[in-house]
Amino acid sequence: MRVAVTGAGGRLGSALVKTLPSAPFVREVLAWDLPEHDLDDPTSAERLIGTFRPDAVVHCAAWTDVDGCARDPDLAMRRNGTAVGEIARTCVSVGAGLVVVSTNEVFDGSRTDGLPYAPTEPPNPANPYGASKLQGEAAARAAFQATGRDFDAAALAEAGEQVAPLAIVRTAWLFGRPGMDFPQKILAAAERSRDQHQSLALVSDEIGTPTYAPDLAWAIVRLLAEAARPNGRGFGGIHHVVNGGQASRAAWAREVLRLAGVDVVTSDVPSTTWPRPSTPPAWGVLQTTPLPGGPLRDWRVALAEHMSLPNSHEEAGG
Ligand SMILES: NC(=O)c1ccc[n+]([C@@H]2O[C@H](COP(=O)([O-])OP(=O)(O)OC[C@H]3O[C@@H](n4cnc5c(N)ncnc54)[C@H](OP(=O)(O)O)[C@@H]3O)[C@@H](O)[C@H]2O)c1
Repeated sequence: MRVAVTGAGGRLGSALVKTLPSAPFVREVLAWDLPEHDLDDPTSAERLIGTFRPDAVVHCAAWTDVDGCARDPDLAMRRNGTAVGEIARTCVSVGAGLVVVSTNEVFDGSRTDGLPYAPTEPPNPANPYGASKLQGEAAARAAFQATGRDFDAAALAEAGEQVAPLAIVRTAWLFGRPGMDFPQKILAAAERSRDQHQSLALVSDEIGTPTYAPDLAWAIVRLLAEAARPNGRGFGGIHHVVNGGQASRAAWAREVLRLAGVDVVTSDVPSTTWPRPSTPPAWGVLQTTPLPGGPLRDWRVALAEHMSLPNSHEEAGG
């Protein structure tokens, strides 16, 4: 397979670009990012996908600044919605499979029964980022539906098979390199709190599942492998892929501090302590879908591995 990755310099994209070459079914990895792939440019998808004709595209590029999306919802729709339709239509025209990476924020997070969101549940985004990502899912589905190759997740699950060349992979709370991820932000904030002799305030009423970008990358590679395998199950459908377990932002932060051996006084606060343009879902827990090769490991195990890597939290103090 020749596999193209958009957003190749981002957190998930860079993990994929690192992981894909070790998969035996991968012949070539095409790594695309700004400026050659630009979600603002309606000709970008056709130019790249039409020219290089990959067998599959993993679409990781997105405008992930959720507060930015809330300030400019039209631009969010362009980048996270309309642009996905352009990519999907070009994939259809060249016969390429497509993996669209989406988010738990397509759900409003108002559930109070403690159950995770299943892929079959109707989404209802509560903020412009979630709305734009849902629009991207819909645009991709419309492009594949036009050829009769869309999936019906419920029907496929019932039949025990997946045959369509479009996969939507919803995930949540990604951490890993590059850039300032949540663990790094917490370590930097802890240092500031200690310097100012203040306690570190942690949000305790937002629940989700921290997900290690390299683990998600492996899961996507395993899904692609199913498509590449003769008589494989294909990879179509809506997949909810997160590490095992769940946590509040506060619990996640405390685990980061524990693993880094940072001793700082902490206090729990509600998310309303810091009003933001975008409202994150209070309950963002996804019910994971069965993955070839089994479920991803618990988020704490993944976090421990991430934080044991050289330089994994050195940037935070800078
Ligand atoms: N991060 C999370 O917690 C999270 C949670 C759930 C779902 N997701 C989804 O997972 C996927 C990967 O997220 P991530 O955390 O890897 O995001 P990321 O680190 O922000 O990477 C996004 C990538 O998209 C590129 N990009 C941004 N604006 C672009 C534009 N206008 N045109 C072309 N490329 C553009 C970025 O390039 P530059 O770096 O040059 O701007 C970057 O390479 C996204 O679809 C996101 O919606 C993320």
